[in-house]
Amino acid sequence: MTYNGAKLLITLRFPDPVLARAKRDYVCTFNDKDIGWSEDEIIAKAEDHDGILCSSTNKFTRAVVDRLPKSIRIIATYSVGFEHLDIDTLKIRDISATNTPDVLSKATADIAFMLLLCASRRAGEAERMVRNRMWEGWTPTQLLGPSLQGKRLGILGMGNIGREVATRARAFGMEVHYHNRSRLTANLEKDAIYHDKPENLLQISEFLSLNCPMSEKMRHFINAETLKLLPPNSVLINSARGGLIDDRALIAALKSGRLFAAGLDVFDKEPDVNPAYFELDNVFMTPHIGSATIETRNAMGFRALDNLDQFFAGQRPIDLIT
Ligand code: 8YV
Repeated sequence: MTYNGAKLLITLRFPDPVLARAKRDYVCTFNDKDIGWSEDEIIAKAEDHDGILCSSTNKFTRAVVDRLPKSIRIIATYSVGFEHLDIDTLKIRDISATNTPDVLSKATADIAFMLLLCASRRAGEAERMVRNRMWEGWTPTQLLGPSLQGKRLGILGMGNIGREVATRARAFGMEVHYHNRSRLTANLEKDAIYHDKPENLLQISEFLSLNCPMSEKMRHFINAETLKLLPPNSVLINSARGGLIDDRALIAALKSGRLFAAGLDVFDKEPDVNPAYFELDNVFMTPHIGSATIETRNAMGFRALDNLDQFFAGQRPIDLIT
């Protein structure tokens, strides 16, 4: 089925099966490179197009949305997060927007847990030691880190991803605590312990996993003040958004040893990473790979296309944000 010849602008090189389906059903202008288009290029290329398939690396700020051609009726982002879309301006311009929740929750929770294990068990240092041929032999005190068994994991944001992190934590014998805008129903909460204020959660979190959406209110929520609330030697994990953390404060806490370690998949101004992190052995870092499984990245694309199909068929898209 084609959607009345609807024209789609595809801003990045998405996986082949996703692009194949888009090309089957739409008239597509697409980026076949991994180098993103500038805002000016996107605006120019969007001329005469009906919709845009983008990623969270494309910032649709007020200034950008205001300059989009009148033909654009929908922006489908290939991401669950949508802080890069100025929703108020999209509303004014009567442009719809959709995201891709659910399909990436398990993959992202896997990465959160990978960070948790790698940061606490010092996998970065260990790997560097072997790879750099610096391993001189086993010793009883080499590369020790905290056990997970019986420890308290605080999850900030108990949506789909947070709950998948909880499932993994239970399997490792951790005690799950959480804060969420609203308390979960008993069947979703299971044995997790609810804290009505994020600050209360921090106070008991020997491990803290950030799984909440990014918003202006949450910008730098992890800062010098809130870091003081964490128990000494705690481990901080961020697989959500870099902007949740004030890097300077985290770097100071890692340097002083107040925090045992951090595991970071996302960064405030990515791909630029605060260079002070490179000097710290107790930070384990990956380049925003939370959803990077073959199956998940295909599923995200198909979900974005499902939303576009519904929109152009005159239905309400399942993941309509606005
Ligand atoms: C994406 C993500 O890889 O979905 C999100 O919000 O952070 C990642 O899964 C990335 O944002 C691509 O748009």
